[in-house]
Formats: sequence, structure tokens, C-alpha cells
Amino acid sequence: MDSDRCHRHTSTKRKRVSHLHPSTLARAAFLYLSDLRKGGAVQPMREKVLKIITYPHPTLRHESKPVKRVDADLRKMISRMFELMYEAKGIGLAANQVDLPLRLFVVNLAANAGEGEELVFINPVLSRPRGSEESEEGCLSLPGVYGDVVRPKQVRVNAFLLDGTELNADLDGMMARVVQHETDHLDGVLFTDRLSETGRMDVDDALHEFTLEFQSRRETGDIGSDEEIAQRLAEMEQKYC
Ligand code: NI
Repeated sequence: MDSDRCHRHTSTKRKRVSHLHPSTLARAAFLYLSDLRKGGAVQPMREKVLKIITYPHPTLRHESKPVKRVDADLRKMISRMFELMYEAKGIGLAANQVDLPLRLFVVNLAANAGEGEELVFINPVLSRPRGSEESEEGCLSLPGVYGDVVRPKQVRVNAFLLDGTELNADLDGMMARVVQHETDHLDGVLFTDRLSETGRMDVDDALHEFTLEFQSRRETGDIGSDEEIAQRLAEMEQKYC
């Protein structure tokens, strides 16, 4: 999620997650399987440098599958996601925004390395939506595009953190909004899907420009075909889901 505009609306509401009154914070068994499975050869993954993909890349519409294993390679990719998020001055980034089909996202409300709290939400499940609030949102996959989105004001999240801790927390303020925006990404939903009819009309020209740019980048071979992208996502799912 883009930080620029949202901070203007909610700068007084920024909170650290530790102030969000987790209802329970329990250790739980989260499977960390070794990278090397006994008796089985590990297929080397095709090397790919992670970068933020933009609308209308098909992976942004991919419904991400739950992660079943976290290995050293995935930890490196998550670390790279934080770097990319900070470079883009964002406060949240979902895995499918870097062309990974995995059900996880990273958040740091401070938007700067070395500040705030770095959180990795793995397999997040939202429940107990309460209230309703409109606030302006942006997205690192749609740079420069903003719009007002109505979302529940509070929400409960259940997720695993990177250290295997199970998190159950009632969120509000900016954290509630970011977690909802990023969980939407994992379901293939963009904030522009949630705009009012007039809000959508306001961003239509910009979306059209993104579409034209995407098509031209495809023609130059910068972006693979739908089939190539689907094949790579399937390989990643086979490894981690
Ligand atoms: Ni986004």
C-alpha cells in the first residue's frame, strides 16, 4: 500500500502493532520443513530477480495459496520485499505484487528501514469486521493512482508471523486498513475494484495508460506471456504451497 496520501488522513492514528491489544498471542506449531527433503532431489528454481509488478499484470489477479513451508530462499525473498517496499515508500506489499503466488504480505507503517516494526503476515485470515470508514488509498502496483475506499474500521486478523508465532489481533486505524488492502491483493482484488462509480471514473484514464504501457512492455519481451507467467506461478506453488 502506498503511504503518501494515507498518512495525511490518518497520521494521528498511526500505531505500532504492539499497541493493538492482541487478544491472544500464542506460540503455535508452524511447519518449517528443511529445504532438502530426505531422499528427494530438489529442483533448482529458475532464478528471477524480484521487482514490483504493475497493473494489469495477471499475477495481480491471482488468488494466492496458503504457504506450507518457509525456507532460506523464501526468507531472502521476503527480505527483498521489504527493500522494494521501502524503495517505493510503501507501508505494505503483498507477495503477488512481486509476482509470487504465496499467501503472505509485509508491512511497516513507518515506511523506512530501521524505523517502526517490520511485520510479515503469513496465511492471514480476517474476521469480525466492525464499523465503516472512508479513506484515500494508493498502491505500489498503481503508482500515482489514488481513490477513496470504504472499509470496515476494525478487523480481527489471524496469521503466522515469520518466526512461527500465531498472531490473533484486533486491528484498527492504519494497520486495519493496510491489512485489509494487502489481504485483498492475495485474493486478486485491487483497491480500484472497491471505488465508487465516480471514484472509478476518476481513475479510468490512468488505468488505461497503465494498460497501454503494459502492452508495449509485453511486445518488447520485458513481460512474459500469460502461459509463461502461469507456469512459473505453478512451480512456486508446488514448492511452497
Ligand atoms: Ni496495493
